[in-house]
Amino acid sequence: MSVHKEIRKVTTHVLSEMKLMGEKISMLTAYDYSMAKLVDQAGVDVILVGDSASNVMAGNETTLPITLDQMIYHGKSVVKGVTRALVVVDMPFGTYQGNSKEALTSAIRIMKETHADAVKLEGGKEVIESVHRILSAGIPVMGHLGLMPQSIHKYGTYSVRAKADEEAKKLINDAKLLEEAGCFGIVLEKIPADLGKKVAEILRIPIIGIGAGGGVDGQVLVIHDMLGLNQEFSPRFLRRYHNLAAEIKGAVGNYVEDVKSGDFPNEKEQY
Ligand code: KIV
Repeated sequence: MSVHKEIRKVTTHVLSEMKLMGEKISMLTAYDYSMAKLVDQAGVDVILVGDSASNVMAGNETTLPITLDQMIYHGKSVVKGVTRALVVVDMPFGTYQGNSKEALTSAIRIMKETHADAVKLEGGKEVIESVHRILSAGIPVMGHLGLMPQSIHKYGTYSVRAKADEEAKKLINDAKLLEEAGCFGIVLEKIPADLGKKVAEILRIPIIGIGAGGGVDGQVLVIHDMLGLNQEFSPRFLRRYHNLAAEIKGAVGNYVEDVKSGDFPNEKEQY
C-alpha cells in the first residue's frame, strides 16, 4: 500500500495520516548531499541526519563526540539534496540534556542553519522539560527510546533493552509522556518485538523501529549498514540490501591496476 507516493513534500501531518491509513513509513539515515539526493529520489519518506555520523562518517566508537557544529554541517548538506522526504536532524549528546534553555538554543540553531524539518533527541521523563521548550518554539520533535546510544556509558552494552518488566513499563510511560508533550513520532531501538507492537498500538503518533520488530509503524536503518558499506556491524535486526564494500574495493582495485599499467587514461580520455 502506497497512498502517499504522490506527495510532493512529506510533513509530520503526512506521517500521522500514513499511520492512520496503515501505510508503513520508510526512514533511512544520510549525512551528505549526494547520498541524500539518491535516498530522496528512491522514495524514502523520512531522512534522518543521525548522530551515527559520529561512527560511520567520523570513525568514532560512540555517538558522544560529535558536536552541534558537525551535525549542522551534515544537516545543511543533506537538506540541499532533498525535495520530498521529511528531514530530521539528531541533537547531539550534551546539547539538550542538562538545561532546557540550552536545548532550545541548540534546536533553534539546527533549524535556522540547516533548514531541516525537525529534530530528534534521546530519552523520556529525564528530558521532557527540554522537549516541551523546543516544541513551544514551534519546532517538531521526534523522540528516541529503547537503546539510546548517547547513554552507552550508563548501560555499558548495546544489548536488547526493556526485556525486563520494569524497563518495559518505563519505556511505555516515557512514550506516553513524549506523545502528550506533542512529539510527532518516536524511534524505538533494539527492544522486544512484542513491546514495539504494544507501544505502536497504544500511541496515536507513528512509531519507527530499528530492531523493534514488524508491529511498529515504520522502519529505520543506518544507510552504511543496509548498503553493506560497514562490514563490522551485523546485528540480527540488520538486513543488507547490497555489498557496496566489495563493489567499491573492486572498482578501486581496478583503477589502481589501470593507473599502474598505464591503461588509464587512454586516447579517448585525454585532450
Ligand atoms: O543516529 C542514528 O542513526 C539513529 C538511528 C539508529 C535511529 O538514531
